[in-house]
Parts: sequence; C-alpha cells; structure tokens
Amino acid sequence: MVNTEGQNSMSTSSRWTRNRLKFLLAGPLLEAGNRFMLGRPHQRLAQEVAAERPRRVLELCGGTGYASRLVAELRPNTRIDSIDISPEMLAVGRSQLRRSGVGNVTLHRGDAAILPFPDNTFDVVMSVFGWHELPTDTRREAVKESVRVLRPGGAIIAIDHDAPPKLGRAYRAYIGLIERAHAREVLGSGLADLFVDHRLVVTNHHPASSWSVPFQIVRAELRDPRMN
Ligand SMILES: C[S@@+](CC[C@H](N)C(=O)[O-])C[C@H]1O[C@@H](n2cnc3c(N)ncnc32)[C@H](O)[C@@H]1O
Repeated sequence: MVNTEGQNSMSTSSRWTRNRLKFLLAGPLLEAGNRFMLGRPHQRLAQEVAAERPRRVLELCGGTGYASRLVAELRPNTRIDSIDISPEMLAVGRSQLRRSGVGNVTLHRGDAAILPFPDNTFDVVMSVFGWHELPTDTRREAVKESVRVLRPGGAIIAIDHDAPPKLGRAYRAYIGLIERAHAREVLGSGLADLFVDHRLVVTNHHPASSWSVPFQIVRAELRDPRMN
C-alpha cells in the first residue's frame, strides 16, 4: 500500500533541506563504499545499461555519478547526464570526474521530478538506490518525467532496495529504521507496479535473491507506438 501521509504538506524546499543534511558528508563514503557493496549493484547496473548500446543515458539521483562513470568506461561514445539535488554529492562527483579524465559524463544539479531536458532525448534512464529516496508524490512525478524524456523504445533501468526472500521481515524493519516510510514502497513489486501505472512495460524484474544480492533490478520499456 502506498503511504502518502504527510507528502503533500512537505514543501519542496524542506525536502531539499532534509536531503541536503542527509547527504552532506555522504559523497566520499559512498564513493569508497560503492565498490565493495554486496552483489556489486553499480557494476551490475552499468553492465545492464551498456548492453542496451544507448547513445544517450540519464542517471537520476546519481549522487557523485559513480554509476555514470562506470557506464562511461564501458561506453566511451555514449553521452551520459547525471542529475542530483545535493550540491555536496555533486562537488565530490566533479572532483572524481576531473581525476578520472572521463569526458562523456555531465553532472547537473536538479530535482528528478522536474527534469531540465527536452522530450524524447534519452535511450535509458537509470538509477541505483535512487527511487526509494523520493517521497511518494515526487517519485510519481519523476516517473512521468522519465517517460517524457525517454525516446519511444527506450527503457528505465533501476536497481534499488528489496527484501531478500529469507529474513524479509528483518530487512523491512532495517529499512524502516534507516530510511523514511516512503522508502518501503519500492520493495517487492512496488517499483515495478509504479512503472506499469505509467504506461511502461516491465520486461525484466529480478527481485533480491539472497543477502549477498540484497537488491532488485527492474527494466521497464516505453513501447514505441509505431511498433503496434
Ligand atoms: C542513496 S543516494 C544514491 C546515490 C548514487 N545513486 C549512488 O548509488 O552512489 C540517493 C541520492 O538521491 C539524491 N536525491 C534525493 N532526492 C532527489 C531528488 N528529488 N532529485 C534528485 N536527486 C535526489 C540524493 O541527493 C542522493 O545523492
């Protein structure tokens, strides 16, 4: 069940401030920790995205752009834009970009619910541990915006939290402790159902399979109406 309690009353600026505090010092920690995460979700996402052979990719809630840099290494000719609202995460990301010499990634500050890109621009909209961060209404707006900026035939590819089959209840409790209530809405079929609600066709959904892979992968395609 979707929990919308309190979502509408929270102003955009208080959401931004809350998020800013949460991620103030997280950039260096995530940069160091991402590469050692169980199941290697960022590397997994990058492989899935590269397999689409996209020309343009957008990363939502990209933080430091770690996953974007991985895609860039696999696809040097793909243009990748990554958007995040935390200036601190972006500052860490910009210095990593300079150091790595990667030239095909651009970091933007902005809200996933108001994308500063034209319609029909991207082949893939990707995100890793981003969708659960967004409050219910913002998440819905971000899906609408993703559909708007995707080219027909393009896909959203997401990796996010999921409760592993064993100890699922414990995992839900853990998510409840470390995240806000809306984060739990993506667990199980929550994220895939949200995409289906927005005219997307889920072509792949791998739920979390164990504690060593404690995340789900969802691929949802924007069908080209000309193909019907
Ligand atoms: C858990 S972090 C993940 C960052 C990155 N994807 C990674 O795996 O390293 C979630 C990110 O979502 C960003 N975020 C939260 N709300 C957002 C919004 N409305 N628009 C864009 N980014 C947002 C945060 O600033 C944070 O960087």
